[in-house]
Amino acid sequence: MQNDDFLTATSMALRTILHLPDPRLRRQAAPVTEVTPAIRQLIADMAATMYAAPGVGLAAIQVDEPVRVVVIDVSEERNALLVLINPEIIATDGEQTLEEGCLSVPGIYEPVTRAAHVKIRARDRDGAPFELAADGLLATCIQHEIDHLDGRLFVDRLSRLKQGRIRKKLEKQSRLAM
Ligand code: NI
Repeated sequence: MQNDDFLTATSMALRTILHLPDPRLRRQAAPVTEVTPAIRQLIADMAATMYAAPGVGLAAIQVDEPVRVVVIDVSEERNALLVLINPEIIATDGEQTLEEGCLSVPGIYEPVTRAAHVKIRARDRDGAPFELAADGLLATCIQHEIDHLDGRLFVDRLSRLKQGRIRKKLEKQSRLAM
């Protein structure tokens, strides 16, 4: 992270979101050892970037910061920001299939099967540990974002055939964008 000495969490900047197939999305994100002003700034910027996109979740690695920080808001009102630092899944149960998209894979939406219930352990934006039980969209979103921290994208969970189609579609989109 750069410029953290003079940034404060009261100012928020939109960060650029990396898109597939950028290899930076494939990195393993490092645990946060301390909630520094730079991490607070990153969280504020990630929240602003997620709300502006708009999206329901964003992992730090998607804005080129390979640390284990996630922001999520699955509420209708967009006023229930969940910050997860160093999240870990400690229990799962059941299965559900929901349609997923990703801010790093624009325009692609596909059904993905994941655990229906998850229990996680994480630290909040102040570094305090907590546990959370989630189901429904929140459970899927948490699993999707933790995948990002390990360099995985939801499309990796699709069939080879679908992955090939998506690759072609993204190549076409990037040609059109140039
Ligand atoms: Ni994503």
